[in-house]
Amino acid sequence: MIFAYSLLVAVHVVSFLFCAGPLLALALAPDMGPSAAQRLTRVASFGLLALLVTGVGAIAMTGPAFIHTWWLRLSLILFLVIGALTGRLRRLTREPGSAGAVGRLARVTTLALVLVVYLMEAKPF
Ligand code: HEM
Repeated sequence: MIFAYSLLVAVHVVSFLFCAGPLLALALAPDMGPSAAQRLTRVASFGLLALLVTGVGAIAMTGPAFIHTWWLRLSLILFLVIGALTGRLRRLTREPGSAGAVGRLARVTTLALVLVVYLMEAKPF
């Protein structure tokens, strides 16, 4: 059971890599071209979905341990915000001449992800 849980949390963190990696690349090089930008936002969306699935799995395995904590509630709100921003980013990458807006939005989304990593790692409250 402990092994299965560790494995699930490891997949959760790998999912984070697949979400944050493409967003950071977009934040640093938003003028990379539409086809690369679209591929990156697609990978980021899949990473986000995997974060949700593995996160729900972790909660299911820990029962009431985390469910009443504010770090988790706040993270879930931020997760919804990140989901909405990633959706907006996907649409923006299809619009010509949107590199500036893509870069700004990717930076904001990456920042929100950093905040969630802090909340989930430090569990401050
Ligand atoms: C923005 C998306 C998310 C990011 C960046 C993220 C990141 C992380 C990180 C870095 C950890 C710490 C892993 C460790 O060192 O043990 C973690 C733990 C955890 N995450 Fe997430 N997560 C996200 C979304 C979610 C969602 C949507 C849920 C639930 C629905 C969730 C549930 C959990 C739980 C329960 C833990 C605690 C695992 C433990 O400490 O035993 N996460 N997350």
